[in-house]
Amino acid sequence: MEGKLFIKHAHELVTCAGSFPKIGKEMNDIEIIHDGALIVENDTIIAVGTTAELLQTHNVQDMPVIDATGKCVLPGFIDAHTHFVFAGDRSEEFSWRLNGMRYIDIMERGGGIMNTVRSTRKADKNELLQLGLTRLNNMLAMGVTTIEGKSGYGLDLETEIKQLEVMKELQQAHAVEIVPTFMGAHAIPPEYKGRSSEFIDYLIDEVLPVVAKSKLAAFCDVFCEQGVFSVVESRKLLLAAQKLGLGSKLHADEIVQLGGAELAAEIGAVSAEHLLHISDQGIERMAATKTVGVLLPATAFSLREPFAPARKMIDAGIPIALATDFNPGSCYTSSIPLVIALAALSMHMTPAEIITALTMNAAAAVGAADRIGSLEVGKQADIIILEEPSHLFLPYRVGMNLVSTVIKKGKVAW
Ligand code: NIG
Ligand code: FE
Repeated sequence: MEGKLFIKHAHELVTCAGSFPKIGKEMNDIEIIHDGALIVENDTIIAVGTTAELLQTHNVQDMPVIDATGKCVLPGFIDAHTHFVFAGDRSEEFSWRLNGMRYIDIMERGGGIMNTVRSTRKADKNELLQLGLTRLNNMLAMGVTTIEGKSGYGLDLETEIKQLEVMKELQQAHAVEIVPTFMGAHAIPPEYKGRSSEFIDYLIDEVLPVVAKSKLAAFCDVFCEQGVFSVVESRKLLLAAQKLGLGSKLHADEIVQLGGAELAAEIGAVSAEHLLHISDQGIERMAATKTVGVLLPATAFSLREPFAPARKMIDAGIPIALATDFNPGSCYTSSIPLVIALAALSMHMTPAEIITALTMNAAAAVGAADRIGSLEVGKQADIIILEEPSHLFLPYRVGMNLVSTVIKKGKVAW
């Protein structure tokens, strides 16, 4: 039976089915089927139920089978916030940070993001492709089947396009699906020092139209932060991008409380990310508009900053997603197990909330929850199998990668 796959006898089949994004108590509704099974045809899930049910209703003879006895089956993880296309490293800056220097101080001295911009501008496409492939392999091995990837290490037309084109080529070459985001407003390049609003105009006039015309990005993101881009500048850029069909995302309230969360709600952004210093008003507004809050605990950990108030946000009704923020500066890790551990132990999220945050709500954060994020009939067959019987092992086995098999679009990819 060409193109079919039968997965049977999962100790737990966690479907994450339901409406999206999930808010409040719904984040705990992950739907667990004991002795679960599913059938895939080509890249799509065509049946989900108990093993007994599917054996009764479907002729599975001659179908390739995966026996998941003693294992837990889940939707593939979605890493909804990464900056994975870059050259060079900042290990030295990290050692300075270990000695107490602050991320923002390094940035103000011309290090930080600009350091990576210099190496990424110099790198040729092939080098970026090779680096990207290695990084995608690491992600896939941890059960990640879709990522969001941001540009923003070019800050000029040529390099921003180069980064986005690399993502497009990686999409052809690798199983991990990539949702590209244009983040030309990631820092103020030296050419525009002290002229941030002119730089925003440059992005709007010269870069955005090219990005939109060549359909290289689905979203536009901006580092809305003190000393980087103001709320006024961020609003202007994101609204211009919306006019060209790009959804909005924001790096909001990461280092100081600037009102990024409020702006996200005001302009109908799909998500606001980081939110370490979100205000009570920001929480209220995001809850009202169901803007997804993408939380990045590995960044807070790496920066020795307080974690985002996840409990408060979930209880207030903000749909929460979790992601790695993989980047060479504030958080050089793509470790999903680390994110899970921090979410459970430091942010007090339940195992079920964490799974929702890495599947359905992460899918909503990349605008794809109608297609991915749960194991339901009609959805894309992005599936992971854990070497343990229950989802409860994910936070319990701190920092361990428990993923033994990854299926992307119906094919075993790892
Ligand atoms: O999400 N805050 C801005 N951007 C990244 C860091 C990028 C970098 O340091 O290279 C972040 O933390
Ligand atoms: Fe980021």
